[in-house]
Amino acid sequence: MAIFRAPPGPLYADTRVPGDKSLSHRALILAALARGESRIVGLAPGADVLSTRRALQVLGVVPRGEVTQSPGAAGWRAPAGPIDAGNSATTLRLLAGALAARPFRSTLVGDPSLMRRPMARLVGPLGALGARVEVAADGRPPVTVGGSALHGADVAVPMASAQVRTAVALAALQAEGPTTITSPPGFRDHTERWLESLGLGHRLSDVAFAVVPGPVPAATYDLPGDLSSAAYLLTAAALRPGSKVTVRRVTLNPGRTGFLEILGAAGAGVRCRPTGLVHGDPVGDVTVEGDALRPVRVDGSLAVRALDELPLVGLLGAAARGVSIVSGASELRAKETDRAAAVVRLLRSLGGQAEEQADGFMVTGGGGLAGGVADPAGDHRIALAAAVAAVLAPEGVEVLGFDAADVSWPGFAATWEALWS
Ligand code: S3P
Repeated sequence: MAIFRAPPGPLYADTRVPGDKSLSHRALILAALARGESRIVGLAPGADVLSTRRALQVLGVVPRGEVTQSPGAAGWRAPAGPIDAGNSATTLRLLAGALAARPFRSTLVGDPSLMRRPMARLVGPLGALGARVEVAADGRPPVTVGGSALHGADVAVPMASAQVRTAVALAALQAEGPTTITSPPGFRDHTERWLESLGLGHRLSDVAFAVVPGPVPAATYDLPGDLSSAAYLLTAAALRPGSKVTVRRVTLNPGRTGFLEILGAAGAGVRCRPTGLVHGDPVGDVTVEGDALRPVRVDGSLAVRALDELPLVGLLGAAARGVSIVSGASELRAKETDRAAAVVRLLRSLGGQAEEQADGFMVTGGGGLAGGVADPAGDHRIALAAAVAAVLAPEGVEVLGFDAADVSWPGFAATWEALWS
């Protein structure tokens, strides 16, 4: 349990956030596929990335500080039992792809939340490469892969999922012959950009990518901060008129910046300053200034490009006079919790007005929130959104089980406290 408050007056900060979670998983797995020593600077500190690190250790990879030493995929040893991906679907799905080409079978499991997440989406796309993939009868984990040689194929992923695309790419790197991957738009294309810069593939269009199989080289990854974590601080600024918060050197991958567009559409001042590329993937500084907010409509590929930040759109909706609607986001229901239901529950428990929609949610706002007790049901992004809700809630917000936030941002409570003092 933790209590969050936001004293009256504007918020000013010029700060950094922990390393990017999506990129951290990818850097660790690419370093594990490569033979030799790779260096990862700025790895995300949360429990999810630790799950990937531990899983790779089971295979014989040795991460020590910034250096990851690996025998290469061909030298991975067969796990003695199921590999535990903890709360992290990214760990489970990406490793399912990376392990699909190994000559041994591997079984991947997770905590009770992960054991409820949909995994059938891996079967067709990895199967197209000749992979043997088994999931439980209800399409959930355990997921078992491996034991067959893979061949290249044209793989059509039916949903805009970066995790599934990445799983296919990691398997395709180890296949005989080239693979193309297509899907609907909006996904984060971190993997595609990195593979292209490592000489292991090339972009065919915004949605199509060709993987050229070959050994992954050992490399250095200098990771930016996590824009999804920055979003909590940027939202705090947006919700408090007169505020100004800058977060330095975060990922600006176009599949991640949907929420910044939503903040702008809601009336906040938003400025992005690109500062460079990490293996072809853009990074930069973001500044948000708070102002009176108006309601927003979020749909289509914008919803995909803001998927992990949609709980924060609930808070923008509570602040803006009128009706805000998020639709086209049925994937929200397949996250660590059913996030469409969780956002509505969060807003209502703090005195707001919100309703679930089949593929999203609707918020009627204008009066802010009263405050009270929020139960994020173990979901890190709902726990962090509940903390930020304190900006709108004069009574403050008590968040039950706030340690769920450790999945992506251990130490958030201390950061929040310091920001406002
Ligand atoms: C992620 C992709 C997204 C995102 C998740 C991380 C990734 O999931 O929601 O938090 O690192 O590839 P989907 O691939 O299911 O859309």
